[in-house]
Amino acid sequence: MALLAGSKKIKTAVFISGTGSNLKSLIKFSKLKKSPISIEIIISNNPKSKGLILGKIYNIKKKIINFKKQNLAEKNILFELKKNKINLICLAGFMKILSKNFINNFNGKILNIHPSLLPKFKGLNTHKRVIDNKEKYSGCTVHYVNSKLDSGKIILQKKIKINKNDTPKSLSKKILNQEHKIYPKAILKIFSL
Ligand code: GRF
Repeated sequence: MALLAGSKKIKTAVFISGTGSNLKSLIKFSKLKKSPISIEIIISNNPKSKGLILGKIYNIKKKIINFKKQNLAEKNILFELKKNKINLICLAGFMKILSKNFINNFNGKILNIHPSLLPKFKGLNTHKRVIDNKEKYSGCTVHYVNSKLDSGKIILQKKIKINKNDTPKSLSKKILNQEHKIYPKAILKIFSL
């Protein structure tokens, strides 16, 4: 992806819906000299998203967008993104499915992190399904977003072993720790010249 022009960092928006631990790891990464991105705005569809506090802590603009009318919500988001000259979107626990039209507006510039070894276990309740299916391994994947759910080109994956006594909760914790590492790594991978 040839987005890194000159020495300026890529203006990035992070979309969240919940805790925001991936957002936190991305913010920390963005502060490093080696990071190609700067996080300009946090977008949440959920006013109660815990991650919004990070906007305050790190002095990053935040915008809460009501998704009751998705068309309108996406129009409002596109307006914000344009206003802030955003050139990359990182979805980080964002629980809404963006429309084809929205994705086309940012074609090839939207990334997502998913807590499974895609293409296995797309969608929700990943860890429970993985355990119920008696999988030996799981992991996480950073991928480009296309119009099919969790199906865009894979950028980076991390595989982890599942122990006999792992529960969806313990697995989620282990994988989340890895997510925090691979999201920044995937961004470095894309933008390393
Ligand atoms: C992560 O497991 C992410 O992969 C999934 O939702 C979770 C979000 O966690 N899509 P957080 O809000 O980043 O803490």
